Amino acid sequence: FNVPTPTNEPVYSYAVGTKERKLLKAAIDEARAKQVDVPMYIGGKEVRTDNKVSINPPHDHQHVLGQYSQGSKSHVTDAINAALAAKSDWENLPWEDRAAIFLKAAELASTKYRYKLNAATMLAQSKNPYQAEIDAACEFTDFLRFNVQYMTEIYAQQPPVSGKGVWNRVEQRPLEGFVFALTPFNFTAIAGNLPSCVAMMGNVVVWKPSNAQIYSAQVLMEIFIEAGLPAGVINLVYVSGPDAGDVIFKHPDFAGIHFTGSTGVFQDIWKTIGENIHLYKTYPRIVGETGGKDFILVHPTADLQVTNTALVRGAFEYQGQKCSAASRAYVPASMWPALKDAMTTDVNSFKIGGTEDFTNFINAVIDEKSFDKISKYIDRAKESADAEVVIGGTYDKSKGYFISPTVIVAKKSDYETMSEELFGPVLTIFVYEDEKWEETLEIVDKTSIYALTGSVIAKDRYAIAQATHALRNAAGNFYVNDKCTGAVVGQQPFGGARGSGTNDKAGSMINLLRWVSPRTIKETF
Ligand code: ALA
Repeated sequence: FNVPTPTNEPVYSYAVGTKERKLLKAAIDEARAKQVDVPMYIGGKEVRTDNKVSINPPHDHQHVLGQYSQGSKSHVTDAINAALAAKSDWENLPWEDRAAIFLKAAELASTKYRYKLNAATMLAQSKNPYQAEIDAACEFTDFLRFNVQYMTEIYAQQPPVSGKGVWNRVEQRPLEGFVFALTPFNFTAIAGNLPSCVAMMGNVVVWKPSNAQIYSAQVLMEIFIEAGLPAGVINLVYVSGPDAGDVIFKHPDFAGIHFTGSTGVFQDIWKTIGENIHLYKTYPRIVGETGGKDFILVHPTADLQVTNTALVRGAFEYQGQKCSAASRAYVPASMWPALKDAMTTDVNSFKIGGTEDFTNFINAVIDEKSFDKISKYIDRAKESADAEVVIGGTYDKSKGYFISPTVIVAKKSDYETMSEELFGPVLTIFVYEDEKWEETLEIVDKTSIYALTGSVIAKDRYAIAQATHALRNAAGNFYVNDKCTGAVVGQQPFGGARGSGTNDKAGSMINLLRWVSPRTIKETF
């Protein structure tokens, strides 16, 4: 099939004096100057309620970006009905027409809406310009373009063998029912991808974003609508988890969930689906990317500068709130004194503050709950005999939810912050004796309850091979001599197993295959 060959969207630097920097600043000023009144989108209609919730930037308690309309169970029912009403027309549309809508959406996201989408991601999700750019403008666009390519490869798959007088074929049907997309705050790209890649395969969707991402979700919805997505194909609702769950998981037409969020929520959802399994027409597809406790394992032969860059960027970009962020590291004792100095110099050079000032590298964490959780871990580390806070360790929520990049040294490899997920700018380091490399490999594997991303840093080729083999189940995305964040669509399909999810690699054919139900047809002549 002939679709445009996808390429990754170029990343703008927003360097001082560039046209792009001026345009992004203008988009931020425009967004700050107005108050949005964000509706739900059900069956192509904007739906507002009297139950308004204000949208505040995490880095600025004094500012309000606007409000959104909180819905209730009846809105979930309306969204399901709208999705089911749209289903027949949508799934019978030729796939080229579906492809064209999402290719157009990619074009809009990377041109007309680029700065608006980045500004929304910066203001409400507290990202600096570069972090917003690689997420909203680039990764979202890449998901759309590459998924269109994977979709065509699925439809173009080699048919089964047919004997004389027989025609065997396989039809890739959309799922029977509707799919629920439950999306996270930390990547606008993931929030946009989870409903859109399901819809691309001919399905209809009820989408509930994280409350902290509703501001940029509206921009995504504007893009889908302008690109020509028919009413009811993706329905966007803002309701509580229990309200959504009560309606969706009891509905006979519930056909699947596409999820990114916490391990606990995903496990609860899985149990609820199990309890209600007799209610459904079909076994629902359960696809989820969940928690992470991503590691960087440093070998005694590692390059100091490569290690330092991998640690400070992997751990502290976007305040450690990437599911892929490095949150634990294993460092050989021979390297630790020099590495500590290098990290201290780098971390002390990071400016902390609001996203409107483009020179701030570290912005706020997403909300008060997150701030309180992370700061308690820091306090406990300060008091514990098993840990020492060696860099950072300060926090302040008077103006916004700011936590300084923090490094804890754990004296025991099972100290709480070596295994529990904090989702913040805290890196815990265990310093091992150089000769205990093999023992350390075992520790890393055994303590990887999650298995999303991980890195090994080494010059010794044998050590790289050892780690790659010993840790084959400890990370779904494994990096050699690089940080463990920054997977690019079309280059490193993303996802993990163990406590990190079903490993149905976002932005890949594997993922799209979960959203079709093949039918085999044998016709005898
Ligand atoms: N693509 C994002 C990363 O790997 C999730 O950091």
